[in-house]
Amino acid sequence: MKLAPSILSADFARLADAVAAVERGGADWVHVDVMDGHFVPNLTFGPKMVADLRRATRLPLDVHLMIEHPDQWVERYVEAGASYLTVHVETLPDPAPTLARIRRAGARAGLTLNPETAVESVLPFLPLADLILVMSVRPGFGGQRFIEEAIAKIRRVRHELDRARLAAELEIDGGVKLDNVRRVVAEGVSVVVAGSAVFEDGEGAEVAVRKFRDALA
Ligand code: DX5
Ligand code: ZN
Repeated sequence: MKLAPSILSADFARLADAVAAVERGGADWVHVDVMDGHFVPNLTFGPKMVADLRRATRLPLDVHLMIEHPDQWVERYVEAGASYLTVHVETLPDPAPTLARIRRAGARAGLTLNPETAVESVLPFLPLADLILVMSVRPGFGGQRFIEEAIAKIRRVRHELDRARLAAELEIDGGVKLDNVRRVVAEGVSVVVAGSAVFEDGEGAEVAVRKFRDALA
């Protein structure tokens, strides 16, 4: 199981410190939420922020694009240093060419879906993806409550990946805390995103990452 702290809940004026802290705590990836103010009602990071983060940590950068027209941005985010680049199925009439484009640009390709989107929308693309991300909150903001319906989606994707003998990562994002992370991982998730639970922990992000590790040990 890999832990990917989301810097959405970190202090944006101190992101180098934030990624250093989670790296010391033993995080596996850094989750970077890119928002455009159109697909979601919030704004965050452009490619330059990803390039600057790339120099601030050795951890893989797991870049989650919550933007319209993601095709126009694939090369810029990959060149900036995205290790995984994940796009929303809702933003694409056909995700297949975009997933291929991400791989061709040199990153691992991820596909994700909103809580209100049927899981069937991603199933045809499992063989073309290196990562499937199940959203367990409506994207846009950290600190929301875990939507339980995500569990059934995780089970379904896990089942289909195993049945087709596919090794894609299965990631969950939104509302994961110390008190539900074990339950989520038990459903077959391989990557857990946690934002507010890591960066709003009173003991600091490094200790928070260790607490997640202990919760899963
Ligand atoms: C929501 C983002 C998440 C967010 C998760 O749009 O995709 O990555 O940072 O934050 P928490 O863990 O606080 O729900
Ligand atoms: Zn995210």
